[in-house]
Amino acid sequence: MCGIVGYVGSQHANGRPLDVVMGGLARLEYRGYDSAGVALVTQDAGLATAKKAGKLVNLEGLLEERPLPPATAGIGHTRWATHGAPNDVNAHPHVSADGSVAVIHNGIVENFASLRAELAADGITMTSETDTEVVAHLLGAAYAATGDLAEAMRLIARRLHGTFTLLAVARDTPDLVVGTRHDSPLVVGLGEGENFLGSDVAAFIAHTREAMELGQDQVVSITPDAVTVVDFEGATVEPRRFTVDWDAAAAEKGGFASFMDKEIHDQPHAIADTLLGRTDDAGRLVLDEVRVDEAVLRQIDKIIVIACGTAAYAGQVAKYAIEHWCRIPVEVELAHEFRYRDPVVNAKTLVVAVSQSGETMDTLMAVRHAREQGATVLAIVNTHGSTIPRESDAVLYTHAGPEVAVASTKAFLAQITAAYLLGLYLAQLRGTKFPDEIAEILQDLREIPDKVQTVIDASGHVREVARSMADATSVLFLGRHVGYPVAMEGALKLKELAYIHAEGFAAGELKHGPIALIEDGQPVFIVVPSPRGRDSLHSKVISNIQEIRARGARTLVIAEEGDTDVLPFADEVFYVPRTPVLLAPLVSVVPLQIFACELATAKGLDVDQPRNLAKSVTVE
Ligand code: F6R
Repeated sequence: MCGIVGYVGSQHANGRPLDVVMGGLARLEYRGYDSAGVALVTQDAGLATAKKAGKLVNLEGLLEERPLPPATAGIGHTRWATHGAPNDVNAHPHVSADGSVAVIHNGIVENFASLRAELAADGITMTSETDTEVVAHLLGAAYAATGDLAEAMRLIARRLHGTFTLLAVARDTPDLVVGTRHDSPLVVGLGEGENFLGSDVAAFIAHTREAMELGQDQVVSITPDAVTVVDFEGATVEPRRFTVDWDAAAAEKGGFASFMDKEIHDQPHAIADTLLGRTDDAGRLVLDEVRVDEAVLRQIDKIIVIACGTAAYAGQVAKYAIEHWCRIPVEVELAHEFRYRDPVVNAKTLVVAVSQSGETMDTLMAVRHAREQGATVLAIVNTHGSTIPRESDAVLYTHAGPEVAVASTKAFLAQITAAYLLGLYLAQLRGTKFPDEIAEILQDLREIPDKVQTVIDASGHVREVARSMADATSVLFLGRHVGYPVAMEGALKLKELAYIHAEGFAAGELKHGPIALIEDGQPVFIVVPSPRGRDSLHSKVISNIQEIRARGARTLVIAEEGDTDVLPFADEVFYVPRTPVLLAPLVSVVPLQIFACELATAKGLDVDQPRNLAKSVTVE
């Protein structure tokens, strides 16, 4: 949810703390954009803060009107509101009653009411409706008592229930930023004579790619030359270092009108990079990161994919392929439902957690639950240094690069690709596919980036149709087999980007209810299976198109090039290149992403930061 940045450096004179913090916030704004604020430790005047409701641009305006003095260290926050309306007063940072410390927070302090009562009894009056202000007052008091900001943070962190990442600066410690985390993300960026803190590495990749993971319940202190970490008991901890392989330029728009459009165009690379370096000289799959004992993988009798939103649709696509290639039953479960239904999980279950951010709280909680039940957990994650891979038994990283637009596109294709690799790896290990069959599928996968590029290059027609539909109030999406999760993903993209009612259905379900929605002019996308696919699915879906068209639907058909059977029944056809059936979602979803992005743009909406959403959902 909220994005947080901290910076301390020795090159103070040039306004660098504010520049670094504001630059970091710009790259983290996808985490929340209800308000933004900064606190600086200034060279002469103690703490200076500025905060403003609305997007970061509002804070930029305020800083132009009322510039802050030169500083030595700073923290910044971009908010997704939980407690209290998204207004100026509730925006972070919050300053302690004695004015000694400023605090920013990501998460929810669940016991804030009792802490608030305690502070009220001490005569402290709250000025905001937030849970975070309570933390600022507690920290101010602990700092007054100990004279040590890190120690004060450690003491108060132990009193908080809920989830939190906290950063703080104090007016009399010009070269220090302190942070802590519990069930909420925080990573450290290591520079030369400067150090950084961020909710994720995007906060500082413009400055350094050297980073450190911070574990659960730890307190970190950064100065220009040192990073010190202790746990909540006060014992020194040696955190794991890692190098971020993301290109800083990948987090810039690079000439595109929006990150969304850019990330759609990044997709051929995202797939190619996720496939890169996965085979040995003999062409056998080697998934080095999957450090689960092969004997364990050989004896698993069930796979459960847990994920949310788009990542869960990636899991649904993977189910078809993994079951077919490996003959292992695969269940796909929304992470937030999983742990509340007493799932049947044991040592023979492989749980695959799929997450772009690696921070989704629902997925993290499901991972913990699965491990407690004895399952082996493998994470498919895009963001290095995040919590889900750290808490899993193994990780398979997607290499989509930073995804900045709130709605997921390239991460979706990279997740499907990684899940295919996992399926093929299991098939290789368990001998359910011959090596030459696996090699053939891998070759098909390597051809996908060019096919996705073809779809993007030929997107003029879908863009034109999208622009003509800016007034649509409802769009339905139908698909079958692997086209079913594609239909649901197409509907989700349209809902979140264009705020249009949209539903994805299994085409076979149509006559069991949804067909009642069809009336004159109702637009319906249909993802048509390949005519070369199994059984008679193709002809069944063609019949579905006829059935809805006869009832007045406007049919928008995604079909494989050369499929002329659809022509008599399609108001519009968007052809995609011929692709093996199980891999087809990687190409057939692309026109639907482009459609949603273009239609939302035509409506004048912000496609990168849709209303009410945040990219990393770090609260349940
Ligand atoms: C939709 C979207 C969300 C995420 C979901 C999971 O466009 O982006 O549905 O897919 O919130 O997020 P991650 O993958 O970070 O766990």
